[in-house]
Amino acid sequence: MHQLRVLCLRRATPATRPSSVLLLSAHRTPPAKAQTRTFVSTFPKNAQSATCTSNRLSGRTCMITGGSSGIGYAIAERFLREGASRVILVGRSFDRLAAAADTLLETSTLTAGEDSSTDDVATRAPEEDRQLGSRYTPPAEPLSPGSLIESSERLHLLVGDVSDAGSWDRELEKAMQPVDILINAAGISNSNILPRTEPSDISQVFRTNLEGALLTSRALVRASIRSRVKTRSAATPSTDARPPSKCIINVSSLLALKAGTGAVPYAASKAGVLGLTRSLAVETAESLKGVFIRSNVIVPGYIETPMIADFTDNQTSKLKDSIPLRRFGRPDEVADAAVFLAQNEYANNCVLNLDGGLSAV
Ligand SMILES: NC(=O)c1ccc[n+]([C@@H]2O[C@H](COP(=O)([O-])OP(=O)(O)OC[C@H]3O[C@@H](n4cnc5c(N)ncnc54)[C@H](OP(=O)(O)O)[C@@H]3O)[C@@H](O)[C@H]2O)c1
Repeated sequence: MHQLRVLCLRRATPATRPSSVLLLSAHRTPPAKAQTRTFVSTFPKNAQSATCTSNRLSGRTCMITGGSSGIGYAIAERFLREGASRVILVGRSFDRLAAAADTLLETSTLTAGEDSSTDDVATRAPEEDRQLGSRYTPPAEPLSPGSLIESSERLHLLVGDVSDAGSWDRELEKAMQPVDILINAAGISNSNILPRTEPSDISQVFRTNLEGALLTSRALVRASIRSRVKTRSAATPSTDARPPSKCIINVSSLLALKAGTGAVPYAASKAGVLGLTRSLAVETAESLKGVFIRSNVIVPGYIETPMIADFTDNQTSKLKDSIPLRRFGRPDEVADAAVFLAQNEYANNCVLNLDGGLSAV
C-alpha cells in the first residue's frame, strides 16, 4: 500500500486510461524509473511537422508557469521563435529553470520564420540537454519565492511554487506588470484511487493545478488594473485604436471532460480550470473597463512529456490503440495551439481539444 502510494506520486495520469491499465502500471513501475524525468520522443524525426513561424508574437511579454519542462517549455521555445520580446519561465527549481534557459537560449538564436527540428528539444526534459558549464551560477543561498532572474534580455526566470503563490503574491504581481500573455501550464498528477489518496496529496494537486492558475490569473488582472490607472493618469491622447488584448491560456486535461479511474483529484482540478477560464472571460470584460483580457484553455489528451514518461511499452501501445490517430501528441503541437490562442483576438473562452480524437471515443 505504502509502495503503491509513493510510486503513484511520481506517476502521471493526464488523460483518460482504463482502470486496469492505471492500477497495473502503479504496481509494476520500479521506483528508480518513477523518479526519472527523462522523456525522449519515440516519434520519428521526419514525421515532425515543419513549424512555420512568422513573428506573430512580436513585442509581447509572456509568463509561462511550468516553463521548465514539457508543454510549458515547448510553448516558451515556440513563443521566442514567434518573436516574443520577453518570456518569463516560472518553476520551483532554479536548476531546472536554468537548464531550460540554457537550451532555450541556444535554440532562440534562430531567426523567426526559420524552421528547426524541435523534437529533441521539446519532448524531453531540458536538463537532459544541458551541456557542461551552464551560464547560470547557482545561488549561494536558497532563493526567496518570487525571485526574478534576468537571464537575458528576452528570457527571465521566476523561481516560485505556484501552489504557494499566496505567500509571494506581491512578487508575483510585480513580475506580472509587463505581461501580455499568461500561460498556466504548471501541473502535477497523482495516480491513485480516491480511498488510497492522502488528503495532503489531494490538496497539493488542487493547490498546484487550480489554485496556482487562479492566483497567477488574479495577479495578471490586478497588474492590468494598476497599469490602466497609470495610463489614465499619464493623460495620453485618446485614440480609437484598441490595443492588443491581454490573454490567459490555461492547460486543462481531457480528464476534465472524460472519466477515468485513479485520477479523481486531478480530474476535478482540471475541471476547475475550465470553470476558471469561462468565468474569467466574462468577469474581466465586465470589471475592467478599457482593458481586455481574453481567457482560453487547451484540453490535451496524451502528450509526450516527462509527465507520462513512466508508461510501460505495453501500456503505451494499448493507449495509442485507443486514440483514433494512434499516437500521442507532441508538445510542439500544443505550442501551435497556444500561438493561435495568443494571437487570435476573437478567441475568448475558446476550449481547444488536442487529443488525437480520443475525446470522441
Ligand atoms: N503530458 C500530458 O499528457 C498532459 C495531458 C493533459 C494535460 N497536461 C497538463 O499539461 C501541463 C504541463 O504538463 P507536462 O506534461 O508538460 O508535465 P511536466 O513535463 O511534468 O511539466 C510540469 C511543469 O510544471 C512545473 N510545476 C509543477 N508543479 C509546480 C509548482 N507547484 N509550481 C511551479 N511550477 C510547477 C514543473 O516545474 P518544476 O518541477 O521545475 O517546478 C514543470 O515545469 C500540466 O498542467 C498537465 O496537467 C499534460
